Amino acid sequence: MPVDLNNAQPLDWDSATLDPDTRVMLDNLQPNILRAHVREHLSVLFVRFNDATEGRHFLRYLATTKMKSARRHLQEIRDFAAGRRRGTPYVGLGISKAGYRDLGHSVEDVRKFGDQVFRDGMKRRVGEIHDPAVDQWENTYQREIHAVILIGDSEPEPVAALRAEILGELPESARLLGEETGQGMRNPAGDGIEHFGYVDGRSQPLFLRDEVDREPKDQWNPAFPLGNILVADPFSPNPVQHFGSYLVFRKLEQNVRAFKEIEESLSDTLGLVGADRERAGAMLVGRFKDGTPITLRPKPGDDDVTNDFTFDLDDGSRCPFSGHIRKVNPRSFGREVIMARRGQTYGERTDDPWDDSPPASRPSGEVGLLFMAFNSSLLAQFEFTQQSWVNNPDFQNDATGHDPVIGQGERAVKVAFPKAWGQPEMSVPQAQVAQTVTMLGGEYFFAPSLAYLRNL
Ligand code: HEM
Repeated sequence: MPVDLNNAQPLDWDSATLDPDTRVMLDNLQPNILRAHVREHLSVLFVRFNDATEGRHFLRYLATTKMKSARRHLQEIRDFAAGRRRGTPYVGLGISKAGYRDLGHSVEDVRKFGDQVFRDGMKRRVGEIHDPAVDQWENTYQREIHAVILIGDSEPEPVAALRAEILGELPESARLLGEETGQGMRNPAGDGIEHFGYVDGRSQPLFLRDEVDREPKDQWNPAFPLGNILVADPFSPNPVQHFGSYLVFRKLEQNVRAFKEIEESLSDTLGLVGADRERAGAMLVGRFKDGTPITLRPKPGDDDVTNDFTFDLDDGSRCPFSGHIRKVNPRSFGREVIMARRGQTYGERTDDPWDDSPPASRPSGEVGLLFMAFNSSLLAQFEFTQQSWVNNPDFQNDATGHDPVIGQGERAVKVAFPKAWGQPEMSVPQAQVAQTVTMLGGEYFFAPSLAYLRNL
C-alpha cells in the first residue's frame, strides 16, 4: 500500500503488520525528521562542492558509512528505553537548490521540487519576510551554500570525532564555508530552554503512535499526518517509497540583555508587582519561563510542562494574540501550517539564563538560536508563519502587533496589554516592544532520502 501522507492516525512504526512501503520509507528516511534526535551537542557544517563527481562521491560516502535511517533511530530509542545500549550519533544532510545544480541536476530537473521558495533560495526571499538585506548577513551565509551537514549527540566527544572524520573526507575541490556549534541548555527541572530563559521545544507535531500515546490530549491533539513534513524525493530511485523533507535553517541572534530590560520595563509600565511581574515576559512568549501556558494560569505552575490546551476561551486577556506561541500556533485553525522544529541554541553563557539576575549581567549578542524546522512546504509553512502571522500586526484581531519575539518589519501599531490576568481592563496603548532577535543568515535545504544519496 503506498505511504498515505494524509492519514491522521499516528504511525505504528514498530508493528509487525507495518505495510512494506512504509517500512521502506522508514529505512530510507533521515532521522530527526519524524522524531527529534538527541543533539545536545551539535555541529553544523556548511559546504560547497565545486565538482559534481567528487561532490556525489562524498555524499555517497556520508550516506553509506555515517548516516542511519529513521527506523534505525527509532529502534535505538526503543532499545535505550529498555535499558539496552545507548544510541549512535546523528548525521543529517540537507542540499540547497544551488547544491543540486552543482551536483549536476539540470534546471528542468530542479523544477521537480514543488516548492517555489526552495527553488528561489533564502537570499531571494528577504523582501517577502522582512529579513535583513543579504549584505548584512554573516559572511558564511552570503556565499552560495550547497549543503549542510548536521552532527549531533548527547556527548561532545563523538560529535568532535565525527566532525573531524567527515571533514577529512571532504574532497579537495569542496570547501567548508563555515560552521556553527549548537549546545543545549536546561533549567533546574531538566527542561530544554532557549537564551531568554524559557522552556522551548515542548510543543511539536507528533507522527508516531508511541509518542502520541504518552500525551494527554483532552484539548489539543498533537497527532499530525506525515504530509505536514514529508514529500516524495523527486530524484530518488522510487519516489513512491522514498521521502524527504524541506529544511529551513536560520541563525537568529538573541539580545538577551535587551529582552530582559523589556520584561522589566513592561512590568513597570503595567504596574505589576511581586510574583505577577513574571507575567510581562509570559505575555510576550505565551508561556512562563517554566513552560506553563499563560492562557491556563496567571502564575508559573509546578506540574509537568503541559501542551494540552487551546486558546478557545481566551479573548486575549490572558495570552495576548501577539504572544509568540499564539502567533505561531493559534491552535483552533492552521494545523496544516505546523512544522517540526529541530533547532538548537548556540553561544556560551557565563550567567544562568533562568535565574533573576539583573539585565546588565546578560549577553547582548553572540548567543541565539540555530532555528531549524522540517516542512512539506516552505512557502505554506515556515514563510507563511513568518509573513502572514508573525510579521502581521493585524493577525487574528486588529492592531494586536507583531510577534514580540521574532516579528520583523516596522512595528508601527500601538498595542495594549491586559492589566490583570483574565480581566477586560487594558493598558493605555503603547509602542510595541523592540526587536531583540536578529536574523544573521540562513538557507533553505532539502533533506533527501538515503536511497537518493546511496545511489549517487
Ligand atoms: C530566537 C528565536 C526564537 C525564540 C527565542 C523562540 C522561543 C520559543 C518558545 C520559548 C516556545 C515555547 C515552547 C514550546 O511551546 O515548545 C516556542 C514555541 C514555538 N516556536 Fe519559537 N522561538 C524562536 C523562533 C521561532 C521561529 C523563527 C519560528 C517559526 C517561524 C518559531 C515557531 C515556534 C512554534 C511553531 C512553536 C510551538 C508553538 C505551539 O505549538 O504552541 N519560533 N518558541
